[in-house]
Amino acid sequence: MLFNKIEISPLLLSEIHFMGFSEFHINDNDFVIIDKNVFNKYKYTFPTNKVLILESNEELKSFNNLKNVYSFFSKNNLHKDNNVVCVGGGTLSDLIGFACNSYLRGVNLILVPTTLLSMADASIGGKNAINFQHIKNLIGSYYLPKKVIIDINFLKTLQEEHFFSGLAEIIKIAIVKSKSLFLIIQQNIEQIKLLNFGVLAEILEIAISLKCEIINIDFKDENQRLFLNFGHTFAHSFELKENIPHGLAVAKGINLALEISEKFAGLPTNTKNDIIDLFNAFNYNLKINYRNINKLALTKDKKHLSNTNKLVLLENLEIPKIMNLNNDEFNQIIKDLSKFKVYQ
Ligand SMILES: NC(=O)c1ccc[n+]([C@@H]2O[C@H](COP(=O)([O-])OP(=O)(O)OC[C@H]3O[C@@H](n4cnc5c(N)ncnc54)[C@H](O)[C@@H]3O)[C@@H](O)[C@H]2O)c1
Repeated sequence: MLFNKIEISPLLLSEIHFMGFSEFHINDNDFVIIDKNVFNKYKYTFPTNKVLILESNEELKSFNNLKNVYSFFSKNNLHKDNNVVCVGGGTLSDLIGFACNSYLRGVNLILVPTTLLSMADASIGGKNAINFQHIKNLIGSYYLPKKVIIDINFLKTLQEEHFFSGLAEIIKIAIVKSKSLFLIIQQNIEQIKLLNFGVLAEILEIAISLKCEIINIDFKDENQRLFLNFGHTFAHSFELKENIPHGLAVAKGINLALEISEKFAGLPTNTKNDIIDLFNAFNYNLKINYRNINKLALTKDKKHLSNTNKLVLLENLEIPKIMNLNNDEFNQIIKDLSKFKVYQ
């Protein structure tokens, strides 16, 4: 048959290497794009002169910056046999992933995540995106890196708020996919706060393998991968409106999703409380400001269909479910919830 379903090769765990970045060999014809803070802190010298240093924050994920990256590629004659080595957090890898996917219809990408969020989540699974018209991740694609090099030592210099931003995504995957990871985090709260690298490496490896398991089954967000968006429908509004790191917004989004899950998906109150307690043990600010929920952003959410809002809810730990709501039902839920006291 001519139009057979094309199988997308899954991201195998073996493509993810835990190793020191300084042991990773960069060639003189590689392209390096590096986060400015990382570059300044670690004072790297590279054997290549094709180095672009970019300041990373949510603003980076824009058309203008994408154009600058294309210009850097073009000026330095990037070809299919070169590698682009991207060293930084999730904002940088989201931008560079999209640039690498579209330039020459795909050039070799190697990701070196330097934040906890990018190690556990953004560098795994091949999603990339830029923001457009104040909507997060509106334009993007799926494009797998050839390799991901994870050097946990980068976490030593990461600001506290960005550390907890990454931890929130790890807690999220535990909630939707692994009671045992949830338990390990619960049992190691103090060690995690103390940045115990043994504990962190264990948690990180479990979180990564759980995500790989999901994307091997559902690379393109058709079913299981949607569960990883738990809390994200609302988080994107909080992230942009309150100008807070992605994972801290996800924690707030999870708070709201738990509230809705208790009312509409039968989530037991004690499970909801266990999850809230875990976030509180790490001092997350879970306060919801309903005025900050951007209705437009909700309708542009990637799970949204023309007239159906797909909300990821939780029946219990490890048991997420999708609830389909039309716009009126969805608006009513938000209106009703804002009358209730939500955990702070
Ligand atoms: N593609 C995906 O699958 C995916 C998944 C989750 C999140 N994301 C995206 O990731 C983005 C957030 O990424 P992030 O949290 O890594 O933020 P980020 O890339 O903006 O980095 C946060 C801050 O930490 C600094 N930094 C990075 N590494 C450092 C280090 N080792 N030491 C000191 N400072 C360092 C950066 O300069 C920046 O100021 C969001 O845009 C989100 O949408 C993407």
